[in-house]
Amino acid sequence: QELQMNLEQIEKNGYDHFMLKEIYEQPNVIKDTYRGRLHTDTGMIKMAGVEDNLQKFLNANRILIVACGTSWHAGLVAEYIFEEFARIPVEVEYASEFRYRNPIINKDDVVIAISQSGETADTLAAIKMAKENGAFVFGVCNVVGSSISRETHAGAYTHAGPEIGVASTKAFTTQITVLTLIALRLANAKGTLTKSDYFRYLQEMELIPQKVEEALQTNDVAQKVAAAYKDASNCLYLGRGYNFPVALEGALKLKEISYIHAEGYPAAEMKHGPIALIDEQMPVVVVAPKQEHYDKIVSNIQEIKSRSGKIIAVVTKGDTQVKDLADHVIEIPEVSDALSPLVTTIPLQLLSYHIAVMRGCNVDQPRNLAKSVTVE
Ligand code: G6P
Repeated sequence: QELQMNLEQIEKNGYDHFMLKEIYEQPNVIKDTYRGRLHTDTGMIKMAGVEDNLQKFLNANRILIVACGTSWHAGLVAEYIFEEFARIPVEVEYASEFRYRNPIINKDDVVIAISQSGETADTLAAIKMAKENGAFVFGVCNVVGSSISRETHAGAYTHAGPEIGVASTKAFTTQITVLTLIALRLANAKGTLTKSDYFRYLQEMELIPQKVEEALQTNDVAQKVAAAYKDASNCLYLGRGYNFPVALEGALKLKEISYIHAEGYPAAEMKHGPIALIDEQMPVVVVAPKQEHYDKIVSNIQEIKSRSGKIIAVVTKGDTQVKDLADHVIEIPEVSDALSPLVTTIPLQLLSYHIAVMRGCNVDQPRNLAKSVTVE
């Protein structure tokens, strides 16, 4: 027993919880994930699983992404990135819905299955169904040799290393890293990005670990905000565009580990329902970096303010407009729209972590949840 405890302490490497350790590993594991694949000097992206099947990707009429939980959120981010960079239509499906829906799958569909564990029963079943219908199935898994990595025709591993905390953190950002590399590779082959944009993204990808490092410095602020809202019973998360899935993921993290009811919404949808919930008791986390349609999110924030909601905004360093309206701001470094989820998601992970700790919750093993869901 004692030996077991000591081992666990060693594995946590000085951190109180695996989740916090894994949050802090992100700059390194993102680098591990693109290392050897991203060659900024020559402008090449080399991923064997993609290269060997390049024609299948290029001839795809559409890409279908199947996943569950946090991996499904990574899929949603990928939808925005693939469509923008490579101009291939993307549909993102919950594996559990897809497998029971008699979906339309064609031979020239590319199906991407995303899974940290590589063992999720619904995702595995969706893959089998796609294969039976003749689709090419590509896996994005973290666990090497997992069932999904074996069942797929080809794939690319995330190099996040073992993720112990039930709430997924580094698996999410490394999944987005892999999917971004694939989208860039296809964009280069198809000529759907200008040469200069393509190179700009390659260069920026290499700066992401540094930007994530800077985003981790929001820890103290996140802790202060956590102290102010730890007793909330509800919380709303809003984001637009690339940061809409980040809002969903932020809400999922909070409910998973702190048991506070949280919902993520695309900011503009707020007026179709959630706005009715806003009063002075309601914390609203708004992911509002300087990005396209920034003015729209500012007006969403004004709407929250005029209903006395409490605004916690994730903004770009130097922002003044949102700062004037928000009750709390968490500043992240400047980053392009498409790569911003890798950075904006960091303070949301920290916020839910601190709230859960302050509420005395079991951060690494939240009640009723399993790290990998191998049954239906
Ligand atoms: C469970 C885990 C989540 C994970 C989801 C999908 O719900 O608790 O953290 O996102 O399964 O798992 P996968 O291994 O397929 O990514």
